[in-house]
Amino acid sequence: MSVPPPDLTGRQVVLGVTGSIAAYKAALLVRLLKKAGAEVRVLMTPDAERFVSPLTLGTLSENEVLTEIFPENEDGSWTKHVTLGQWADLFVVAPATAQTIAKLAHGFCDSMLTATALSARCPLLVCPAMDRDMYRHAATQDNLDRLREIGYAVMPAEHGELASGLVGQGRMPEPEAILERIAERVDGKNPPAAGRASEPGAPPLTGTEVLVTAGPTREPIDPVRVLTNPSTGTMGYALAEAAAQRGASVTLVTGPTALDPPTGMEVVQVETAAEMHEAVQARRETADYVFMAAAVADYTPADPSSSKRKKADTDAPFVLHLRRTPDILETLGTHKRPGQVLVGFALETDNALDNARRKLDHKNLDWIAVNNLRDEGAGFGPTNRITLLGHDGTVEELPLMPKADVADALLNRVLAAQSEETS
Ligand code: C5P
Repeated sequence: MSVPPPDLTGRQVVLGVTGSIAAYKAALLVRLLKKAGAEVRVLMTPDAERFVSPLTLGTLSENEVLTEIFPENEDGSWTKHVTLGQWADLFVVAPATAQTIAKLAHGFCDSMLTATALSARCPLLVCPAMDRDMYRHAATQDNLDRLREIGYAVMPAEHGELASGLVGQGRMPEPEAILERIAERVDGKNPPAAGRASEPGAPPLTGTEVLVTAGPTREPIDPVRVLTNPSTGTMGYALAEAAAQRGASVTLVTGPTALDPPTGMEVVQVETAAEMHEAVQARRETADYVFMAAAVADYTPADPSSSKRKKADTDAPFVLHLRRTPDILETLGTHKRPGQVLVGFALETDNALDNARRKLDHKNLDWIAVNNLRDEGAGFGPTNRITLLGHDGTVEELPLMPKADVADALLNRVLAAQSEETS
């Protein structure tokens, strides 16, 4: 889905650039910010200058780039970190190295960038970029959790090829994605609502693996026709993003949707229920949490044709034989390992709670999120109203909310129950 570029006319953005190979992408980000109408001031750490020149970023931003708190040509302006901190509508650090993340998390201020971050009164956004093992390291993840706790937004690093030759999570998100996130933060369209990951107190998922399924499946009748359903994937994508925000290593297995693939996680695109089954089974053992938000087809054509079926000349009914698809969640329930948390979804039209409770028991789930298509705002649209049933008999009704908020509330509830169980 292509979205128009955001309008940042008159917005004042401080961009902090640190010493990562991804610093070259900062030049593109400056250009995008300027094209969107923002005023940009760039701050670099001394190491960043090894990767990209201040002249490049200064020319693109049309402003002097600052690095040291105490400039060599002393002009009495050593308090610029304070002035800039107050000037900024948003402070974004992209790329943010493990070193700078550690400094920001602990309040070090040994450069213009870190000192300005400490003075800033505006929202702050950090876009980590580093090698896979540095990113995974408990020290880095703790520092990122600390940043979230003190109100920074963190854009999870992306999964992919890294400069070291390794493949894993650690790539800086693309400048276009960062620009979008900047626009949301500046506009306050995505303010940290109560209990959101960027708010103090939202339980983290650091060091855990989360597997989420989303969207519909498409079952081929012949090469040009499919059986499918109107699932948009919004609920599953929101859950995957919320889990990634809390520091989990997320895999999203998604059927075909019109949504942009989220960054900062492994995204596996599938078409059929059988493909989704295979992708999920391959990952089930290491997953700590599984959220099956996909609307998986229960039946698939028993004998899909390899060539296009022709229209008959008669009015006789067209008969299509269907066979059951594998029940992915049921298989997960059968093989559930101790400590693994399985969450299913049930979209019902009649006897919603009774049906859902039967599924919860039958599929050996820990939770099931039930919504009733007959409830206004629940189902295939941007909002949802769910009732959460727990295996321990818990019944919790959540209010009608945007799906991103439902995702956060659901994670909060599942994690709270788990910490009650272990304490
Ligand atoms: O279709 P049903 O209402 O039983 O779906 C309940 C849950 O089971 C959902 O979480 C859905 O993703 C999952 N499911 C599945 N495999 C199927 C059908 C449903 O994993 N073939």
